[in-house]
Amino acid sequence: MDRNQVICGEASKVMASWPDESIDLTVTSPPYDNLRDYKGYDFPFEEIALELYRISKPGGVVVWVVNDATDKNGSKTGTSYKQALFFMEIGFRLHLPMIWEKTNPTPQTTLRSRRYTPSFEYMFVFSKGAPATYNPIEQKCKNAGKRSGSSSQRKPSGEKRPRASQMIKPTKPLTNVWQIPVLKNGSGHPAPFPDEIALRHIRSWSNPGDTILDPMAGSGTTLVAAARLGRKYLGIDISQDYCDMAAKRIEAETAQLSLDLPIIEPQPRPGLHQHGGDRRSRNWNQPYNCNHEKKRGNSAEYLIDRLRRDHPDILDRLHSGEFRSVRAAAIAAGVVRAREPHRGHS
Ligand SMILES: C[S@@+](CC[C@H](N)C(=O)[O-])C[C@H]1O[C@@H](n2cnc3c(N)ncnc32)[C@H](O)[C@@H]1O
Repeated sequence: MDRNQVICGEASKVMASWPDESIDLTVTSPPYDNLRDYKGYDFPFEEIALELYRISKPGGVVVWVVNDATDKNGSKTGTSYKQALFFMEIGFRLHLPMIWEKTNPTPQTTLRSRRYTPSFEYMFVFSKGAPATYNPIEQKCKNAGKRSGSSSQRKPSGEKRPRASQMIKPTKPLTNVWQIPVLKNGSGHPAPFPDEIALRHIRSWSNPGDTILDPMAGSGTTLVAAARLGRKYLGIDISQDYCDMAAKRIEAETAQLSLDLPIIEPQPRPGLHQHGGDRRSRNWNQPYNCNHEKKRGNSAEYLIDRLRRDHPDILDRLHSGEFRSVRAAAIAAGVVRAREPHRGHS
């Protein structure tokens, strides 16, 4: 099974030809209750879920971004809940239900629906056993450096449990509610999710070099994010048009990443190198693994490792979407030199 490709076909049938336990992370979004017209394709949910379980590695994660349609009687379908329960029945853990809160939802303008404006979607995080990888994304603590107040915990009697005040740390992990705007400019696909959703999940639940799958890849958002973060990708979509769209986006991204640029070699930093170690258990926050030092070259994976080791601030800015590519972040960090502008003959 070759990595780094988009395959046109029905997801369950394509996955059926793949070996067991071959995928580290799946980040995907199914067609929501035929809410949109995907050219009338069939969606065999149960077969797809069973294949995902079979091909996920032990500790592998599936992120399922989903929402419910409204049926003809005006009720929400509840399909998202039914799907989540099915994933659990076939052996996945429901590791973490998460919410994508849309910061720019389309307001509900008619009173007829008698509903508040829907402004979120579910992101169910399923895992095959305990997740093999967790690289928490940090956010700044508002009161960093100040001392926390007294404890709010109470004894069964109602009396406050005394606890010494503590210094508040500079950062803490994000919560399971992520506020991210919906893409408003047309990508040509009816329902892409924002790059930020894919970037954050890939960063959280995988490491560079891992294989990331999107079996309903649409415009290829997950695949582009995987390439950007130095992971291998596999995409499937039933529509040839969407496969072509995804392939074009990946081509544009990898052109950005094609780095025929001089690499500025790192200075050895005594005490930081670790030898050996299991790649799957390597944590984002752990010291740099010197095995990667041998991977000289222009790969995004190498540059990401350099940023993680020497410029974690720039890596965070890359993950927050500030840079268009790994290369741009590496240039800002001084890890590679920008290409000289082409000068014509004088
Ligand atoms: C919600 S969209 C995914 C959008 C994608 N996350 C993005 O950012 O562009 C769902 C996709 O599933 C595809 N699809 C529907 N049924 C499928 C099936 N049985 N096998 C593979 N792809 C399927 C549709 O063509 C559509 O592109």
